[in-house]
Amino acid sequence: MEKKDIDWGNLGFGYIKTDYRYVSNFKDGKWDDGEITTDDKVVLNECAGVLQYAQTVFEGLKAYTTEDGRIVTFRPDLNAERINQSAARLEIPTLPEGKFIDAVEKTVKANAAYVPPYGSGATLYVRPYIFGSNPVIGVKPADEYQFRVLVTPVGPYFKGGAKPIVIKVSDFDRAAPHGTGDIKAGLNYAMSLHAIVTAHAEGFAENMYLDSATRTKVEETGGANFLFVTKDGKVVTPKSKSILPSITRRSLIYVAKEYLGLEAEEREITLEEVADMAECGLCGTAAVISPVGKINDHGKEICFPSGMEEMGPVTKKLYDTLTGIQMGRIEAPEGWVHEIKI
Ligand code: PLP
Ligand code: COI
Repeated sequence: MEKKDIDWGNLGFGYIKTDYRYVSNFKDGKWDDGEITTDDKVVLNECAGVLQYAQTVFEGLKAYTTEDGRIVTFRPDLNAERINQSAARLEIPTLPEGKFIDAVEKTVKANAAYVPPYGSGATLYVRPYIFGSNPVIGVKPADEYQFRVLVTPVGPYFKGGAKPIVIKVSDFDRAAPHGTGDIKAGLNYAMSLHAIVTAHAEGFAENMYLDSATRTKVEETGGANFLFVTKDGKVVTPKSKSILPSITRRSLIYVAKEYLGLEAEEREITLEEVADMAECGLCGTAAVISPVGKINDHGKEICFPSGMEEMGPVTKKLYDTLTGIQMGRIEAPEGWVHEIKI
């Protein structure tokens, strides 16, 4: 199959329209079979639930070309599980067993010409989402929904790729203790937009959000979980009920322990102890592992010993092992790499 003529090596993290997308509708209490379409337009009633009350959830995963030329996705079963957890929290009908992976497979397969070649540094970002589509004016869930999957080829999430970034401690909160921080709902991102625009205007790449109850503990950024390495080489990541349970973070904890023989632990991490860490990174599907060189806490700089030039050594090992597994260079744990037969 001939690939599209795209400058894969210079892609940023942006939307490029591809040829096909998947659409399925929920009506009269059930999901239809769904189909691939070329139509990238969504026509909605002016009063659709998603437009009035932001009733929408989404997922993010990537399709890769492996070293031996297969097209694969990484742990899509966990995205399938998480979209249903997100949906249930927003009173959106969940997807029946198998529907999520079937939709992802169909969309990636139809757009195989957009899956970046092995070694190009780019990947095909897959964005499944569900939204309330019929008119709703009183505050209540919609009765009709649309589940769509779009794909777009992407490069690194942060400009500069693997170069360490500088972030700031945000004065805004991302999630409340018993709120929606642990699901992937559009509303969590809408309320982070002012904070990210503010951070960018001040020259920072992202925000570190603290727990909104005490503002002493590290939560996550707008689009990734944190990962730290202590001075004695232990991998630690924040444990909180109001952060998204990142599939990348869960995978990295396993990789740290089982592949690299490191100690790894999920626990509460205070902002105060961050200054004692040796390395810091942001982990997620889009971010992969993006190293953090510095954190600005209201003018006070926390500078990690790994510096502003390169990833820290443990972060690099984690990055190389995880991407090695994803691209088929390193043997994956059972079920992690899901091939899409073209
Ligand atoms: N946290 C937030 C707020 C995110 O948007 C994402 C991205 O999906 C993550 C964490 C990382 O999650 P995952 O590794 O499952 O992509
Ligand atoms: C992802 O990593 O898939 C996300 O959804 C993060 C988003 C900020 C692009």
